[in-house]
Amino acid sequence: MRVLITGGSGFVGQRLCQRLDEAGHRLLVVSRDPEAVKTRLPGGADIRRSVLDFVDTPPEAIVNLAGESIAAKRWSDDQKKRLIDSRVNITRDLVMLCEQLKASGSRVPKVMVSGSAMGYYGDQEEREVSEETSPHDEFAHRLCKRWEDAAREVADFGTRVALLRIGLVLDAGGGSLEKMLPPFKLGLGGRFGTGKQFMPWIHREDLVRAILFLLDNEELEGPFNGSAPRPVTNAEFTRTLAKQLRRPAIFPVPAIVLETALGEMSRLLLTGADMRPQRLQEAGFQFQFETLEAALADILG
Ligand SMILES: NC(=O)c1ccc[n+]([C@@H]2O[C@H](COP(=O)([O-])OP(=O)(O)OC[C@H]3O[C@@H](n4cnc5c(N)ncnc54)[C@H](OP(=O)(O)O)[C@@H]3O)[C@@H](O)[C@H]2O)c1
Repeated sequence: MRVLITGGSGFVGQRLCQRLDEAGHRLLVVSRDPEAVKTRLPGGADIRRSVLDFVDTPPEAIVNLAGESIAAKRWSDDQKKRLIDSRVNITRDLVMLCEQLKASGSRVPKVMVSGSAMGYYGDQEEREVSEETSPHDEFAHRLCKRWEDAAREVADFGTRVALLRIGLVLDAGGGSLEKMLPPFKLGLGGRFGTGKQFMPWIHREDLVRAILFLLDNEELEGPFNGSAPRPVTNAEFTRTLAKQLRRPAIFPVPAIVLETALGEMSRLLLTGADMRPQRLQEAGFQFQFETLEAALADILG
């Protein structure tokens, strides 16, 4: 089928495009710079600058992943606006695409899997978190809520919508792990603050499999937690990563240092949620990497 992907050039999107291509699907990718991202995508991908450029090539499915990186810069008011706009505006374009397709009598996409994040729940301390847990109101929650609300609007045109609240995506060659590895390899790693905050994580390969699962299963809609069944605290993550690398991790970073250096963005490192993939598991999704040990062993060899 024809699948339109926003954010297809990113860390998750590239692997998703590869898997979709291998499965024989046709790729329609939206990128701000089609020329620049061509080499990161499978040869046959049709890459265009805007969602609405695809009105003449109606997709049967959509995966919406585009957005300014949440950890790129301190969260000034301008940066917060950029984080929201970069997600909400392209999502609104997707709604407009569905509207235009419907108005012109073309087929509307059957399904849209739209990105969201564990940040939807905000800080949940030690509470176990399912898709039903009430969120804590803070910037990360408001960002995800606006992104999800924008995505839900495609349902007005008959498209099934699944919202994937993604945990920390782990794999080689990008994402958070790439940033964490250098200090840990030097034996300079350590927990952040008390280390008690939860870090729901997912192997990139399982995340891509979960996206394909949501695309395929016609009865699945609404929010889904996209993280492995066995989340860990930051202290456990630190210990497991250090053990895998056979290095000590004895340099904790005090909360005050992170708060001073990163401002409000330090909440990404100092708070979390014990997020469980309840709805994916109820639907029968099988994770290939259930434990962090197994995921890191696969990734770091
Ligand atoms: N990786 C994680 O650990 C993680 C965790 C939770 C949630 N998520 C969410 O899942 C999505 C995919 O994650 P990822 O790690 O693959 O992200 P990524 O590598 O940062 O890629 C996101 C893509 O979005 C596009 N983009 C970046 N800045 C943009 C802007 N200002 N305006 C419009 N488009 C922009 C880029 O595509 P072009 O340059 O081609 O336009 C980029 O390739 C993201 O929205 C992210 O927030 C990721």
